[in-house]
Amino acid sequence: MAKMEVKTSLLDNMIGVGDMVLLEPLNEETFINNLKKRFDHNEIYTYIGSVVVSVNPYRSLPIYSPEKVEDYRNRNFYELSPHIFALSDEAYRSLRDQDKDQCILITGESGAGKTEASKLVMSYVAAVCGKGAEVNQVKEQLLQSNPVLEAFGNAKTVRNDNSSRFGKYMDIEFDFKGDPLGGVISNYLLEKSRVVKQPRGERNFHVFYQLLSGASEELLNKLKLERDFSRYNYLSLDSAKVNGVDDAANFRTVRNAMQIVGFMDHEAESVLEVVAAVLKLGNIEFKPESRVNGLDESKIKDKNELKEICELTGIDQSVLERAFSFRTVEAKQEKVSTTLNVAQAYYARDALAKNLYSRLFSWLVNRINESIKAQTKVRKKVMGVLDIYGFEIFEDNSFEQFIINYCNEKLQQIFIELTLKEEQEEYIREDIEWTHIDYFNNAIICDLIENNTNGILAMLDEECLRPGTVTDETFLEKLNQVCATHQHFESRMSKCSRFLNDTSLPHSCFRIQHYAGKVLYQVEGFVDKNNDLLYRDLSQAMWKAGHTLIKSLFPEGNPAKINLKRPPTAGSQFKASVATLMKNLQTKNPNYIRCIKPNDKKAAHIFNEALVCHQIRYLGLLENVRVRRAGYAFRQAYEPCLERYKMLCKQTWPHWKGPARAGVEVLFNELEIPVEEYSFGRSKIFIRNPRTLFKLEDLRKQRLEDLATLIQKIYRGWKCRTHFLLMRKSQIVIAAWYRRYAQQKRYQQIKSSALVIQSYIRGWKARKILRELKHQKRCEEAATTIAAYWHGTQARRELKRLKEEARRKHAVAVIWAYWLGLKVRREYRKFFRANAGKKIYEFTIQRIVQKYFLEMKNKMPSLSPIDKNWPSRPYLFLDSTHKELKRIFHLWRCKKYRDQFTDQKKLIYEEKLEASELFKDKKALYPSSVGQPFQGAYLEINKNPKYKKLKDAIEEKIIIAEVVNKINRANGKSTSRIFLLTNNNLLLADQKSGQIKSEVPLVDVTKVSMSSQNDGFFAIHLKEQGSEAASKGDFLFSSEHLIEMATKLYRTTLSQTKQKLNIEISDEFLVQFRQDKVCVKFIQGNQKNGSVPTCKRKNNRLLEVAVP
Ligand SMILES: Nc1ncnc2c1ncn2[C@@H]1O[C@H](COP(=O)(O)OP(=O)(O)OP(=O)(O)O)[C@@H](O)[C@H]1O
Ligand SMILES: [Mg+2]
Repeated sequence: MAKMEVKTSLLDNMIGVGDMVLLEPLNEETFINNLKKRFDHNEIYTYIGSVVVSVNPYRSLPIYSPEKVEDYRNRNFYELSPHIFALSDEAYRSLRDQDKDQCILITGESGAGKTEASKLVMSYVAAVCGKGAEVNQVKEQLLQSNPVLEAFGNAKTVRNDNSSRFGKYMDIEFDFKGDPLGGVISNYLLEKSRVVKQPRGERNFHVFYQLLSGASEELLNKLKLERDFSRYNYLSLDSAKVNGVDDAANFRTVRNAMQIVGFMDHEAESVLEVVAAVLKLGNIEFKPESRVNGLDESKIKDKNELKEICELTGIDQSVLERAFSFRTVEAKQEKVSTTLNVAQAYYARDALAKNLYSRLFSWLVNRINESIKAQTKVRKKVMGVLDIYGFEIFEDNSFEQFIINYCNEKLQQIFIELTLKEEQEEYIREDIEWTHIDYFNNAIICDLIENNTNGILAMLDEECLRPGTVTDETFLEKLNQVCATHQHFESRMSKCSRFLNDTSLPHSCFRIQHYAGKVLYQVEGFVDKNNDLLYRDLSQAMWKAGHTLIKSLFPEGNPAKINLKRPPTAGSQFKASVATLMKNLQTKNPNYIRCIKPNDKKAAHIFNEALVCHQIRYLGLLENVRVRRAGYAFRQAYEPCLERYKMLCKQTWPHWKGPARAGVEVLFNELEIPVEEYSFGRSKIFIRNPRTLFKLEDLRKQRLEDLATLIQKIYRGWKCRTHFLLMRKSQIVIAAWYRRYAQQKRYQQIKSSALVIQSYIRGWKARKILRELKHQKRCEEAATTIAAYWHGTQARRELKRLKEEARRKHAVAVIWAYWLGLKVRREYRKFFRANAGKKIYEFTIQRIVQKYFLEMKNKMPSLSPIDKNWPSRPYLFLDSTHKELKRIFHLWRCKKYRDQFTDQKKLIYEEKLEASELFKDKKALYPSSVGQPFQGAYLEINKNPKYKKLKDAIEEKIIIAEVVNKINRANGKSTSRIFLLTNNNLLLADQKSGQIKSEVPLVDVTKVSMSSQNDGFFAIHLKEQGSEAASKGDFLFSSEHLIEMATKLYRTTLSQTKQKLNIEISDEFLVQFRQDKVCVKFIQGNQKNGSVPTCKRKNNRLLEVAVP
């Protein structure tokens, strides 16, 4: 319920008190407790009147969303819970609508959230002000100037990972409609000493790390840099990486922001070149070198770095080298040059680096200003945002802290002045009597520091300008003399002079009691830092640089504009810029944001009361509340006041007709609030004590409860009555519906009964009629049947008569035809016999032949020449035709078969034919050879490596190569031999070795003899005076392929010698073995040796072959 409530006042659902002015009782403890309570509930903002106190939550809270912006937009300051947006809205509206220039002063110590607050203010204003392409560009440029300045001006410190190391004041300019036109940024006192040295745990400015992490290799090469941080003396190493910070990504953001702000590419590059040069300067090292006059002179150790710097910046190397070794002092017309020792050279180097960087920073600010400058000359309204370092109290406080604290003193003063002024002005405006308020005025401290005659800054300047030896000690002495009596100044000496021995005060220190607390300053370095000396030789060397940006940073180096006057000291420069700032702020309506840091650990949820207490004290917040409460703690315009409390009085509730003020008067009278507790202003009621307000709030709360009960009561009554009425109405409706339903049902019943009775009666009637009808129908059917039978009888009689008539007619026709035929035949008999018989015969024959051929066509046998089938003869008289036809058909299919033959096959068949002519019906072996294909070369001597020699010996074509059994002439036993036939010779070779045993030219073969039986024996007869082989006599062989071998031998001899070889087939023939003529006789052998024929030499004259 509470969450649903619409907020109309700061006072609704307050955690603690939203405005410290309402704190009762008011003291440090209640103040801190209130802050803590709110902080614990994520309420980081609390008001002191119109001042916003902000406690750094150190984590992102969901309170800056666009919805929140909408919530706070155009709402009154006290309407919603305290928020920085409420202050921004108030400032912006009063700038836009009341034409009042505004300034927003954000203070607090380092890490308290000033910079974040300033960005929140800017983003709120950007979100609520006008829109449009041009305006958006201006907004974007203003917002994007932040990342650029933060990269160059912020650094990680022990207090804050993104600590602003410069003060920033930004004027945002608007036109009369409240649209942004542009802006001007002023920067104060960049902490340049950080460039050359950083305290432990801290880093140099972000830009150095961003450049080294984020730049491309190409860019690094161009800038002559290396990515490794440890290469650079100016970058402390112990905390080079910051948790949660991506330097490389930030580098891209910065480059992008530079582009949006309007930096040209070459400008951005120049800036990075200067940054690189500063980094590299830190790497230059010096060594002592003795000179003739006995003095030490410094020399650069390694000139490589110097060379690269010079290349980068376009400075003549010798010029810069000399500037690091000599120092020229010009006084009037004289010019004296002295050498630098190593310490001085290092001092010069660091001074140059610091100056280069701080001037670059100022140049950047100017360059940004140029971009964001308002383009029109129309009158502008201005909102200034000041984000400046807060009060600093460290263990070692030096010149920088002194300057910063001085600035804060000035701001506090202006705060007091303006707050009191505003309060006073409001009282006057509202016509309320002003009572004096007691508060601490720090003008006296400001005077101690800035007084022109005896202020500390003036003393320091005097010391710096004084001739003779000047040290920090002489400066302290001077202070001791001049300021000894000041209440807010302390030092050991001054104390001593007043005979007070404060041992807590060390030597070479002084202490100032600032409004925010006592701060002890180490005097060491004050003079140097105030002098901020850069040797003229160096500035002249820089002016001579070819790099336009660097040249422009050192205008004093121009010899033409030589100025012997010393440049203003750092202190006086700062004093002047603070004075300008103060003047500027005084013309504006101030808005304050006081930032508080809840802990030193940068951690969320931790609220260190001691730390907060310290800050509350030095920010003077209690003082602030007191000033605000002087006289009246609370004020409110009449209308919202009446609106809020009107329920407390009968006259004003629920509506008051009349002026709001009168209403409030009536209300307060009715409530009997003591008259001294409030005052009526012109437009506001002023309440003196918070107690009164809280009493009012309590009453309101009670009354709200009563009202709620009342509303509840009425609502419940109304609800019950409406419920009852509804029920009654419903009951009537239901009854009506029910009655209708019942009647309907009864009617249906009666109707259906009537229907039943009706149907019975109708049924009965119908059956009666049906019976009658059936009888009638049966009578009709009987008549029809009788008629049908009668008609049938008649029809059959008629049919019979018609049939009889038709038969009679047909018989007449047949008889008539026969008679006619008879008559015709008698008349034409003689003609018919002469011709018709022959014609009929011819026709019949023709018809039979035709039928025969047609049938033959379908009965043809296959085309195979050996197919013996032939259809049987149908008619005897066609016998010869049938045989002839068979012969022709056979010849034709043989021709067809032959036509398919290749030449080779033809040769085989010729051979086969030859064989059949030679042996058919002569030798019993022949039929078994018909089916065997003649291969000739059974033994493939080409392929067998064993016979290679044999093959090589024969040059002619081999016709037969086969293993045969050679019969031994002496005993009839057989041995295997290779039998080879070539075109001209017959060769026998050993089967195992392939060696040729005998060679017979074909011309020497006279005859071949064999039996007529089924055996493979054959004899080859040779010429008696023939070759050498013939000397042993004729050969007797046995072979499985006798028919083939004999045929081939016959054919070869015929083709070679043109003579037919004599082939003798006889079961007894003579062979010549050497001198003997032996008879080879074939006999029917016994079955002892199975189917193999055996051969035996019986005697000199007889060799018997037994053929099974
Ligand atoms: N409103 C906020 N919401 C969330 N975090 C915040 C808020 N304000 C500050 N912080 C956190 O605190 C850190 C420090 O804040 P910021 O840099 O604004 O301090 P500062 O007062 O400007 O310090 P310095 O004086 O060192 O510049 C921020 O980086 C951020 O993390
Ligand atoms: Mg900051």
